[in-house]
Amino acid sequence: MKTTSSARITGTGSFVPAKVLTNSDLEKIVDTSDEWITERTGIKERRICGDDEAASDLAYEAAVRALDDAGIDGSALDAVLVGTVSADYLFPATGCLLQERLGAKRAFAYDFSAACSGFIFGMGQALAFIASGMCERILVIGVETLTKLTNWTDRNTCVLFGDGAGAAVFERCGPGEGLLSVYLHSDGSLSDIIMLPAGGSRTPLTPELLAAHQNKIIMRGNETFKVAVKAMESALLRVIEEAGIRQDEIDLLIPHQANIRIIQALGKRLEVPEDRVYINLDRYGNTSAATIPIAIDEARRNGRIGPGSIVVIAAFGSGVTYGGAVIRL
Ligand code: ACO
Repeated sequence: MKTTSSARITGTGSFVPAKVLTNSDLEKIVDTSDEWITERTGIKERRICGDDEAASDLAYEAAVRALDDAGIDGSALDAVLVGTVSADYLFPATGCLLQERLGAKRAFAYDFSAACSGFIFGMGQALAFIASGMCERILVIGVETLTKLTNWTDRNTCVLFGDGAGAAVFERCGPGEGLLSVYLHSDGSLSDIIMLPAGGSRTPLTPELLAAHQNKIIMRGNETFKVAVKAMESALLRVIEEAGIRQDEIDLLIPHQANIRIIQALGKRLEVPEDRVYINLDRYGNTSAATIPIAIDEARRNGRIGPGSIVVIAAFGSGVTYGGAVIRL
């Protein structure tokens, strides 16, 4: 997308619940082992919500930190965009609940469903709203509480996910700053490889479906793995070319944190040295739409990236949806 203005990140924040679930805790729940989970996924532990914690609670904490970092309060926002597939309710939108809690009285707010690609899709929307002149300042949030949608009897999926939220404030800037390129794509022919089968209008929930865990995530992991690597690689090559940067100019590559083997494959294919590839899935697992904003926030706060850094991100999720972006901080 070529525009006469762009959007840059002026503040970030993230939040994960306090409760930790380790691989050895999971050994007591399903037939698995710390060794299997570590080798196949790279995950050691994940954070999970308490019964009284919902998506808007995690999102609120991340949002407050992002606003504070940007030096603004909610009243300065034109929009609150929330990427999530595990919202508080089917409706109203988590974005509206947050708007109220943040005092973002002038803003419009909504949720959108792009699963693990949620934050990148939110960045694309923020760029479009800002570049069109509709908005000046937008809060984008990726938040998930997937452990509430997890079938704790299915070892294929229950070891993978964690809960968390990440947020970023985007503000107008000149071209060549901020978001240098964004690419979004979907392939609905693969809509059945990761899904939550029952509870929507296609298959309303019944006691039988509930007993069969059909209101929980199912995934064909192996197929997902292969598609994810190819899709994220193509998105990354595209955004790098569109941004006009060389691969050796990348200060930090932040891929969606789903599986260490996917991340390593991407790093190798793009020839980005290991020390420039961000990894935190050992601590949080796959927090879906939240992985990328949590990683950006952590990397900014621990000094791995700062003003002027070139950060390249890519994600892949149910839909399937995927995309990438190049950001000059
Ligand atoms: N512990 C022990 N054994 C297990 C476990 C477990 N937790 N899970 C599966 N296994 C077994 C399987 O039953 C299988 O056994 P079998 O050979 O006797 O049948 C064996 O391990 C191998 O299973 P695979 O599914 O082939 O394992 P794979 O190496 O593909 O790893 C995994 C599975 C980790 C899920 C991987 O495929 C993956 O990460 N996929 C990508 C996930 C992803 O990217 N998701 C992103 C989107 S998520 C979203 O949008 C919400």
